[in-house]
Amino acid sequence: MPAPSLPRNVTVIAHALARVKLTRLRDERTPPREFRRNAQELAVLLAFAATQDLATSPEKVRTPLAETTGAKLARPIVVVPILRAGLGICDAILPFLGDAAVGHIGMRRDESTHLPTSYYFNAPTQLAEADVLVVDPMLATGHSGADAITKLKQAGARSIRFICFLAAPEGIAHLCTQHPDVAIFTSAVDERLDERAYIFPGLGDAGDRYFGTLPV
Ligand code: URA
Repeated sequence: MPAPSLPRNVTVIAHALARVKLTRLRDERTPPREFRRNAQELAVLLAFAATQDLATSPEKVRTPLAETTGAKLARPIVVVPILRAGLGICDAILPFLGDAAVGHIGMRRDESTHLPTSYYFNAPTQLAEADVLVVDPMLATGHSGADAITKLKQAGARSIRFICFLAAPEGIAHLCTQHPDVAIFTSAVDERLDERAYIFPGLGDAGDRYFGTLPV
């Protein structure tokens, strides 16, 4: 349920399992193997929420007993991980998304300005007809997400949803200002950004924790 002060296009999934899995991600003692498993499971819960109202069209099938009408997705799905931390979410949700295509956007953040620069963009051709899921575990300043979405729109995307594990109020405000048409799905909204523009209390660097590349 969205908290009352959140914009209408932000959904914080209320599922008990999501809160439990997010807690395992937050815990600094969680080792990479357990971090990855919980991240992948949380990604699936978020993707279920983010895709529940995708348009379907009727499909007739014959069961062993009779003909009946079911449903098929009306539009293709494109998943776009923001590199590199979005890769874990993408891998976790692809098995549920049939023939979804995958685009990639590389964003590198300047550690002094905290602003992103784009170093890679590759998107499938069917963007304009597709429902696009942009995935990045942390919506911190919101600049990477907003810039990625701008590039996708320039390439033709019209229906975009954004999935993240954690969001900061600053990131939500920026993304909603730049792209009020984009629905955001997260498992929690934290207090604020710290001086390094990390989400506080957050879970640290999602990419380093997922890929086991934390500095020693
Ligand atoms: N990226 C991360 O991995 N963590 C944050 O808290 C912010 C950005």
